[in-house]
Amino acid sequence: MQAYQVQSAAGIDAIGQVELADPQPQAGQVLVRMRAASLNFRDLIVTKGGYARNDRCPVIPLSDGAGEVISIGEGVTRFQPGDRVVNCFFEDWESGEVTEEQFRTARGGGIDGVLAEQVVFSERALLPIPTHLSFEQAATLPCAAVTAWQALVTLGRIQAGDTILTLGTGGVSLFALQLAKLHGATVIITSSSDDKLERARQLGADETINYRSTADWEVAVRRLTDDRGVDNVIELGGLGTLAKSLSCTRLGGRVSLIGVLTGVEGTVNPLPALFNRLTIEGIYVGSRSMFAAMNRAISANSLEPVIDRVFGFAEAVDAYRYLRTANHFGKVVIRIGDH
Ligand SMILES: NC(=O)c1ccc[n+]([C@@H]2O[C@H](COP(=O)([O-])OP(=O)(O)OC[C@H]3O[C@@H](n4cnc5c(N)ncnc54)[C@H](OP(=O)(O)O)[C@@H]3O)[C@@H](O)[C@H]2O)c1
Repeated sequence: MQAYQVQSAAGIDAIGQVELADPQPQAGQVLVRMRAASLNFRDLIVTKGGYARNDRCPVIPLSDGAGEVISIGEGVTRFQPGDRVVNCFFEDWESGEVTEEQFRTARGGGIDGVLAEQVVFSERALLPIPTHLSFEQAATLPCAAVTAWQALVTLGRIQAGDTILTLGTGGVSLFALQLAKLHGATVIITSSSDDKLERARQLGADETINYRSTADWEVAVRRLTDDRGVDNVIELGGLGTLAKSLSCTRLGGRVSLIGVLTGVEGTVNPLPALFNRLTIEGIYVGSRSMFAAMNRAISANSLEPVIDRVFGFAEAVDAYRYLRTANHFGKVVIRIGDH
């Protein structure tokens, strides 16, 4: 079968197409013909090495895929050939408190990912695709959507009437917008582009701020909340945005620490966090049971993921280059095979 590998930590140019033996499912495993995969910002990080405990080379990249079951190994009860399935980001984190070993099973990092024609998964790392979603749409869910779900719902315990701030219009942020609206929250979203902000409004955003033309966007957020601050920030920027996020969170509110879009260098004054009794909580995607709960909400509300562009399998490296431009709105997807 054909697959891609990140062959060294030399960036996008080190991604190459390779011919590998077809994998075979062992006991408890499911062989899936991949139909689509999606990219996340972390996949750019993986090509440069240094992806925390999940740094391995060579590795088949990408964590997020969807496809159909070709065959099952002995003892598999949850799936049968022909089923449409989506995989979990972590091969081994089914539910409950996570362990160090489970965190080492991130697809497309610690273990091989899904940018391949065929992939073997544990049956405990797969879920049925919500029936209204295509393979391309389902492939957007495992990392970005589950991360937003854990931050807003599992840990954030979102309630109707909460105000959520989410940064930028990438994959995680747009899922945060859609999932927060589904829970009856008010959503404030930022972007560098007025056009993207207009599209975010069409998706349900209540308030929009251009963080380029409004450098002190945290002041604008406070103003929009009558100086109360927001209940939960989907903090995707890292050191370049964290101080501002802390300063526009309400007394006793939450900052969901997720991303590093502006990098990890710099300093942040911790005083606003302690004087305002903020909860700052690191988020790392989520478990299969969180994913299953999210899929129930997605099905019940016919939520449609936002796909910016779909590339062919042969154009996989172009998809990475496109993601790197940050011109996208939502998710970048690679179609695998003919369907
Ligand atoms: N901890 C976890 O489990 C987890 C899971 C998923 C992602 N992440 C992290 O979360 C971040 C987002 O990931 P993603 O895959 O959603 O990324 P993405 O789709 O590549 O997002 C790109 C977008 O980020 C926005 N952005 C860039 N700099 C910004 C800034 N200073 N302020 C606000 N927005 C900014 C831009 O939006 P505009 O074009 O609208 O300006 C850009 O288009 C990354 O750092 C990623 O590593 C972490």
